[in-house]
Amino acid sequence: MQALPLDDDGSDGPGKAAFSPPAPSPIDNVPQNHLWLRSFAVLPKVVSNPIESFSATAYEEPVFQTRMFHQRLAMVHDPKMLRHIFVEKADLLSANDVRQKILKPALREGMLTAEGATWRKARRAIAPVFAPRNVHGFALSMRNVTSAFIEDMKGGPDKIPLADRLTKLAYMVLSDSLFSGDLDADSEQVLSDVAYFLEHLGRPDPMDLLGVPDWVPRITKLRGIGAIKRLRAAVRATAERRLERDRNGEDLPEDFLTLLLRTRDDENDPLSIDEIEDNIITFIAAGHETTARALAWTIYLLSFDQDALQRCQAEVDALDIDSVPPEQWGTYLPWVTACFEESMRLFPPAAIVSRNLDADIQFDGHEILAGTQIVASPWILHRHKRLWERPDEFHPERFFGDNRDQIDRFAYLPFGLGKRVCIGARFAMQEAQIILALLLRSFEFAYEEVRLPWPIMKVTVQPDNGIPMRLIRR
Ligand code: HEM
Repeated sequence: MQALPLDDDGSDGPGKAAFSPPAPSPIDNVPQNHLWLRSFAVLPKVVSNPIESFSATAYEEPVFQTRMFHQRLAMVHDPKMLRHIFVEKADLLSANDVRQKILKPALREGMLTAEGATWRKARRAIAPVFAPRNVHGFALSMRNVTSAFIEDMKGGPDKIPLADRLTKLAYMVLSDSLFSGDLDADSEQVLSDVAYFLEHLGRPDPMDLLGVPDWVPRITKLRGIGAIKRLRAAVRATAERRLERDRNGEDLPEDFLTLLLRTRDDENDPLSIDEIEDNIITFIAAGHETTARALAWTIYLLSFDQDALQRCQAEVDALDIDSVPPEQWGTYLPWVTACFEESMRLFPPAAIVSRNLDADIQFDGHEILAGTQIVASPWILHRHKRLWERPDEFHPERFFGDNRDQIDRFAYLPFGLGKRVCIGARFAMQEAQIILALLLRSFEFAYEEVRLPWPIMKVTVQPDNGIPMRLIRR
């Protein structure tokens, strides 16, 4: 267990009562001989909000094996066991069927949903695109897009739906890094298409969970296809135009699209136009809502913790943003970063990582059989009773200074683990640091509603009320 660090004044543990944001309580444990009954009872929650479906045992035991209808599940939330399965036995894992059914129709052979040789080729070819040098190269664009957005916010209403506004900002930041403004589509339309896709396609279909064969049409999958088609058409047209410009020897902007066009696989072949299209769609789907959710939860949590907020403000005010280049801001913002990381502990944007296990595994007294679905949920792991003291409370100290080093690498997994760890983690952290620095310099945020937001998992963990927030200019 990572004990809570001492306060700065040396007192034993945090002196004040920390904010404990509303979140689903574990459901009571159900006797293992009533698993079909339990499966029916939790089915509506698995479909509408999976984080409400976890039982208390999952938060208490390192490994908890159960069933959902015909499917064996192993909920694994032990750092040693996670390392063993996802690193040492990674070759025994394959993509989870339900997730593939949700995402693959839209993302096709993009890196998130590709498997085997297709995935390996894409990952190796695209990894250099996310190298530190390239990510640093996007910092100025992140700063400029955010500054312009903040100027707009200053001229807008005092009360905003924070989560929605940050989704728009994160999309604009990502889109500028991807296409330098060349995308042949209206950003409002793209945003609403992606939101529509995540809203309608981003949920498990009850028929998949019940094991109904694939040929039975899923109503939930039929909606949202038009939205993704429109987005694909715009991305493809933009990529083709850029290729044409390259062939004509024109100067190209230094953005993701150009980097993808120039990258080469192991045989020194370029990526095909289909591979580029699938991966750009994947970056849009995987890369903006995740970051936006994490930012919105961070500001919400800070609005309930004045001490933590003041330390953030002191840090961002002390940063000389005109002489320090934005890719270095993170170094000057350890407390802001700790708040962001603690926010992703409480509200991990990607709450469930799961895989099919293709062969039996024995480890540390546990046996998990082939065919079991391994569930490694950052949501459960980050609130696990054996790993964290006062797991439901907001304590950024956990991630500050030396305390950060005490956290087991496999006890905190907002960006996943193993060979399929998030390729965009560095990009997301840099973006979050830049956006938080600029927002917290410009505004205070006051949450004035009586009801606090409730987390709902629809692909990402998002607030059910958009987080209405009053902006106060600093
Ligand atoms: C705070 C922001 C983010 C969070 C919390 C996050 C989280 C994750 C997680 C947990 C995974 C692993 C999924 C699994 O193993 O099933 C993942 C994979 C991935 N993420 Fe992120 N992500 C974030 C931002 C981004 C960004 C900005 C991009 C791209 C611009 C991105 C692109 C991807 C891709 C392509 C994968 C698939 C990697 C593979 O399978 O090889 N993510 N992300």
